[in-house]
Amino acid sequence: MKRVLITGATSGIGRGLAEHYAQQCFVYACGRNDKALEDLARKDNTIALKLDVTEPASIASACQHIETLDILILNAGNCEYIDDAKHFDGALFKRVIEANLLSLGYCLETLLPKVKASGQLVIVSSSAAFLPLPRAQAYGASKAGASYLAQSLAVDLQDIDVSVVHPGFVKTPLTAKNDFPMPMAVSVEQATKAITKGIAKRRKDIHFPKRFTLILKLLQLLPVNVWLFLSKGIKR
Ligand SMILES: NC(=O)c1ccc[n+]([C@@H]2O[C@H](COP(=O)([O-])OP(=O)(O)OC[C@H]3O[C@@H](n4cnc5c(N)ncnc54)[C@H](OP(=O)(O)O)[C@@H]3O)[C@@H](O)[C@H]2O)c1
Repeated sequence: MKRVLITGATSGIGRGLAEHYAQQCFVYACGRNDKALEDLARKDNTIALKLDVTEPASIASACQHIETLDILILNAGNCEYIDDAKHFDGALFKRVIEANLLSLGYCLETLLPKVKASGQLVIVSSSAAFLPLPRAQAYGASKAGASYLAQSLAVDLQDIDVSVVHPGFVKTPLTAKNDFPMPMAVSVEQATKAITKGIAKRRKDIHFPKRFTLILKLLQLLPVNVWLFLSKGIKR
């Protein structure tokens, strides 16, 4: 049986992935929420691990007994928006960068050596990394960093396939807080299907829903001034 470790498995996309892989693999499902971890621990083929991805010692301690992994999925993350760019909230910026970017470094340090030759590393970024979006100075920067990190690891890692996931909007507790329209939002089930299919095909860039992400990728090709002009419409 393949061994798959998933961070952020207690909710949303990570939970969908944990439930999918537990049908055919052995899953290490990681998170902080005690109740959700207890629930996961009752499932077949699943070991729930309590860890905080912003605390290297917590990762090392929770994962000390893991010997090898076939697939490492770094999915845990958080989103907070900067409401007033002029009066920049440095503490918020630090929180988001720690949760979404520095955490990847901490997880990689402990867990990447455990990934087998010909195994897979999957980093969940966001389609927010494609373009500068309003109020996303912290979240977007953390995800642009995550994408760069994944792509740069893909250059250097010879025997491990690296995939970066760029979801559009997925209906999860994270996006339930959003106070703006979420065009073409998909369910966790749809996200799970797109991500697991991409992982099975060892795709380098897993992005969905295509009708949304392809528009963003196209806009990304335009001169930055065109996007800055168009983005004024989004802000209104
Ligand atoms: N939903 C979307 O539209 C969307 C779009 C693009 C990208 N993404 C990315 O997809 C990933 C999953 O998001 P989601 O929508 O599924 O969110 P979610 O339902 O809020 O789940 C977030 C998960 O991350 C875990 N987590 C957060 N901070 C953590 C920490 N410090 N230590 C350990 N675990 C931590 C949470 O665990 P605990 O609650 O147990 O701490 C939870 O399991 C994130 O990286 C997010 O940025 C989501």
